[in-house]
Amino acid sequence: MKVQFLGHASLLIESEGKKIIVDPFISGNPAAQGKIDVDSIVADYILVTHAHQDHILDVERIAARNPGLKLVSNFEIVNYFGQRGIDGHPMNHGGSWDFDFGRVTYVNAIHTSSFPDGSYGGQPGGFVIESEGKALYIAGDTALTYDMKTIPMMTRLDAAFLPVGDNFTMGPGSAAIAADFIGLDRVIGYHFDTFDLIKIDHAEAKEIFRKAGKELILPSIGDIFEI
Ligand code: NI
Ligand code: MN
Repeated sequence: MKVQFLGHASLLIESEGKKIIVDPFISGNPAAQGKIDVDSIVADYILVTHAHQDHILDVERIAARNPGLKLVSNFEIVNYFGQRGIDGHPMNHGGSWDFDFGRVTYVNAIHTSSFPDGSYGGQPGGFVIESEGKALYIAGDTALTYDMKTIPMMTRLDAAFLPVGDNFTMGPGSAAIAADFIGLDRVIGYHFDTFDLIKIDHAEAKEIFRKAGKELILPSIGDIFEI
């Protein structure tokens, strides 16, 4: 599984010959300008964790250029985009489905999930993706939750993206505890620095992890991880 960080909470996963975009927020992210071209993205799937603008902004734009693309999210989000002509696969918390690129489980997150127009976006979630013999946890926007402990009971994880920007989600301190809950010594942080309210001190965040006997990776836009 190859995962590229596209900025904020946006990821491009390549596995089993398929391309999967997670939480596309590229055209609205000043830090992505000149680095990621949203209109040249080729994708078979878009996975959306919740309905907030900074996770769905480019869903329709990418779908318009990728006929046959399928949206995977909770029931309400798939229904919302279904009314806008995008084909989707609805899921809900605790459920798994075998797609042609691997198995996806929609897992709990503690957050909110309204669309920018105020309509209901269901309950927010995260994803566990099992593909090519590896398992990746994408936490989405979430607080630290004891539910995270149940993930490695079901699936031994190889990698995880955890929000570390604080204010709207976990900060580095909670994320270090989350890393422990999910059974990983090394995690990748995301959802940081994009806006003033989620700017973090990188050295301090890494030190918090180091003191907990863990490692925090803070990716730059475009960085690629082989999982
Ligand atoms: Ni959010
Ligand atoms: Mn967010």
